[in-house]
Amino acid sequence: MKNKKLLVTGSTGYIGGTFSYEALKSGYEVIGIDNFSNSKKATKQILDNFINFTFYEIDISKNLKKVNEIISKTKPDVIIHFAGLKSVSESEKNQNLYWQNNILSTLNILESIKNNNISLIFSSSATVYGDKNESPIPEEAKFSTNSAYGSTKLAQELLISDYSRAYDISCISLRYFNPVGTHADKLIIEDIMSSPNNLMPRILRVAKKIDEKISIYGNRYPTKDGTGERDYIHISDLVNGHFAALKKINGMDNHNFFNLGTGKKTSVLELIRTFENVNDIKIKFDYKSEREGDVAICYADPSLAKKELDWTATKTINEMCVDAWKGVKDGD
Ligand code: WQD
Repeated sequence: MKNKKLLVTGSTGYIGGTFSYEALKSGYEVIGIDNFSNSKKATKQILDNFINFTFYEIDISKNLKKVNEIISKTKPDVIIHFAGLKSVSESEKNQNLYWQNNILSTLNILESIKNNNISLIFSSSATVYGDKNESPIPEEAKFSTNSAYGSTKLAQELLISDYSRAYDISCISLRYFNPVGTHADKLIIEDIMSSPNNLMPRILRVAKKIDEKISIYGNRYPTKDGTGERDYIHISDLVNGHFAALKKINGMDNHNFFNLGTGKKTSVLELIRTFENVNDIKIKFDYKSEREGDVAICYADPSLAKKELDWTATKTINEMCVDAWKGVKDGD
């Protein structure tokens, strides 16, 4: 059966770029859209090596007319919508930017597909669960958000549900837990230079001797060693979750939601120690007070994705740490 034609927003980002690369390698036709506000043109150059890749540089939050033109010209079967600003701390300092960018980009995508029989896969986040749930967290858990970033993710899911119901659009929202690592070909790399907030890029900056040490935010949480516990998932498992959703989406009605996590928890200290052991690199750290908005423990109940998408994460924390380091160690 011929592969579906995919339109990928945010196609030069860490997750969108890795997905686009693997989709092109698997023979999908990919129409990429990005405005490079949070990604590098070097990623587009890698994707340009595929003959089945077309690219448009536009800001979809500001260009409904252009989005309409691209969609009527290219006629994709499915849109995978990665584009969005995603820094929790930045969103708290610039709420208007996050609400404008994240909501309007999704509204414009929905407006341009509402009468075109095109399905939608949306890059959502475990942040929609906030700090009101016991882990492991199932999809029907309570929503609560404590950052503008998380609120825009929840709002986008609601927007998608309304359009899905009103225009009979098949939609899937994939709620990411903590993506880390680099795909097998080590070409699309998470940017560690643009002052990242996330844990793994911080560890990589110490390993690359960019930073002298990492600060662990809090060591008195009710966890195995007092540091925060999360559900880290290898980027390749995350990307495979999208391919699993692609295979099932046309058989699904309205808007469905799936956690993309491993169902396992790893503490900050455990991740640091694992990284040190598998890569034989010392990571200096100190302890700081708890970070505003952090939850102690957050990991997925991934059973629904297993049941409905026939998808399970397979890679271990060791593999995540090896691949994360391999991705950056030879780069500048
Ligand atoms: C993980 C753990 C920190 C940095 C974020 C956002 C969102 C989402 C997932 C997409 C926590 C600790 C971190 C550091 C530390 N992505 N930490 N020192 O906050 O779980 O979720 O990523 O939707 O971007 O919600 O990820 O990597 O920031 O933190 O001790 O320098 O590492 O306290 O326990 P988080 P994170």
